[in-house]
Amino acid sequence: MRTLSTLHSSRRGDIGEDGVGRNWGWIVTHHQHTSSTGRHSPEEQRDFLKDEDRHRRLPPDPILEAVGIQAGATVIDVGAGTGFWTVPLSRRVGTSGKVLAIDVEPIMIEELSELVKAQGIGNVSVVKSEDLSIPLADHIADAALVGFVLHHASEPKGFLHEVTRLLRSDGRVVVVEWHKRATEHGPPVELRLSEEETRSLLEKEGYAVDQVPAGHDDVYVLLGRRC
Ligand SMILES: C[S@@+](CC[C@H](N)C(=O)[O-])C[C@H]1O[C@@H](n2cnc3c(N)ncnc32)[C@H](O)[C@@H]1O
Repeated sequence: MRTLSTLHSSRRGDIGEDGVGRNWGWIVTHHQHTSSTGRHSPEEQRDFLKDEDRHRRLPPDPILEAVGIQAGATVIDVGAGTGFWTVPLSRRVGTSGKVLAIDVEPIMIEELSELVKAQGIGNVSVVKSEDLSIPLADHIADAALVGFVLHHASEPKGFLHEVTRLLRSDGRVVVVEWHKRATEHGPPVELRLSEEETRSLLEKEGYAVDQVPAGHDDVYVLLGRRC
């Protein structure tokens, strides 16, 4: 069995180390929209993330309800993409709460900014980050939503550590990921993090971890409470 570290190095090796290729290459394999370079562009990934059918396959609200995101909370949506979680989060936290929608990709930042403007959403701020560095102060958030992002990070451990830095001492992190087996949608199996791997990463970062119903057979949701 490959260890986490070998998995990560092969992840980089499989699809390039140029930052863009690393983050987007797997989409090609799975969704069979292979470009001449063998990679999906950020634009193609953006269009995939905007597919409205995603909401039917995996309604975000029951998950946000199950993990207890409440009105008035400050939530960071890390790897927010085109706002799949951001918009329902903003509704849930309401006018007394705040969502910080964070992403590394300029095209996602542009997309999120347009979305916020077009929908007149007043409680979302869009933040451009670097892979393991988010330009926000310590302990600002009650919760972090990490939806289909952890397996993208060059170093999931360092990524979680940076997310944890932003949480208050009683903060929670919600990780949504694909099960590590072949499924109709999602990245190649070898790039996924099993539920056990994700649980172990969270526990090493100091969280007590519970499984939350995902409402989808191919996806798992882990809720980490800082302890
Ligand atoms: C599969 S998409 C998921 C987007 C969104 N969370 C969703 O569920 O629709 C992964 C997103 O994570 C972003 N991302 C990848 N690595 C990241 C990192 N280290 N920090 C922040 N965002 C990252 C990508 O740019 C992309 O928008």
